Amino acid sequence: MRVDVHLGPADVAAALRADVTAGLAARPRWLPPKWFYDARGGQLFDDITRLPEYYPTRSETEILTDRSAEVAAVTGATHLVELGSGTSTKTRLLLDALPVRRFTPFDVDEAMLREAGPAIEAAYPGLDVQAVVGDFQHHLTALPGTGGRLVAFLGSTIGNLAAPDRAKLLADLASTLQRGEWLLLGTDLVKDEATLVAAYDDAQGVTAEFNRNVLRVLNRQLDADFDVEAFHHRAVWVPEEEWIEMRLAPDGEQRVHIAALDLEVIFADGEELRTEISAKFRRAGVEAELAAVDFELVRWWTDAAGRFALSLSRRS
Ligand code: SAH
Ligand code: TRP
Repeated sequence: MRVDVHLGPADVAAALRADVTAGLAARPRWLPPKWFYDARGGQLFDDITRLPEYYPTRSETEILTDRSAEVAAVTGATHLVELGSGTSTKTRLLLDALPVRRFTPFDVDEAMLREAGPAIEAAYPGLDVQAVVGDFQHHLTALPGTGGRLVAFLGSTIGNLAAPDRAKLLADLASTLQRGEWLLLGTDLVKDEATLVAAYDDAQGVTAEFNRNVLRVLNRQLDADFDVEAFHHRAVWVPEEEWIEMRLAPDGEQRVHIAALDLEVIFADGEELRTEISAKFRRAGVEAELAAVDFELVRWWTDAAGRFALSLSRRS
């Protein structure tokens, strides 16, 4: 497996410091989501995908099981690129169906790629796997390959970005891809509040642990002293934005020292720290966001329960 590294450990460290400095100075305070995914975060996310309340993975797997052959027939893609690839578990359904010779998993998490890539290589002899360590908010203009590509962006990870960031990411993709190349996009759909909140606040507390893990990352990477257990997980549906907002709020005032930034931060009792959004979509909105950057919607599929959508669009 070849690995292109656009984002080395020093870049990651610098980005983390900049993000934490900006986010903790803001009101309300926030932290950007890509810092959830260290080794433990990746494991916790994997556990989330198997929770009874977390339907998106099962719904998207159902669609991919039913439609991968049609994706292959419509696109004939020979090179599969996957953004935010993680363990590339669902991706195997596409690799089984498509006439692909090349696979490019793209993720910020280098350790995850170095584990997932060889596993795919072993399972698909003859497949040329070239991994990219990068940030899809910054490094999409350097995607490898020329022509015949299908870019898969699954798991509704695009929903973890707000609309302006989504527009930039899609525009970057459109400028990298040639006319006639393809995008396969997974988007979770707007539905009743109880189902949505349960998916982000499960009974076993796995999502709560995943959310708090970002504080452990700060403790380790920035030599901070967050009392992790003092922070409580909240998942709130914000109807005006049609997104779920993940927050952490402390019991009692918390004074946190972040040694690597030489920073002292005081959280008031109950003061919320925003850690993540997960936007939910409707067909018209997805179609408009795609059309704005010259992606023409060619197929729109949902699972039988209508919870999740997979859309196939062509760079026009
Ligand atoms: N595609 C998988 C995993 C989704 S979890 C699925 O559908 O289940 C989100 C993945 O995106 C993680 O592997 C995380 O490391 C990656 N990720 C998050 N932010 C990223 C960014 N800015 N650039 C690249 N990868 C990112
Ligand atoms: N893309 C996933 C989603 O929005 C990521 C995710 C699942 C997540 N559960 C989470 C992010 C909990 C933060 C907290 O569904």
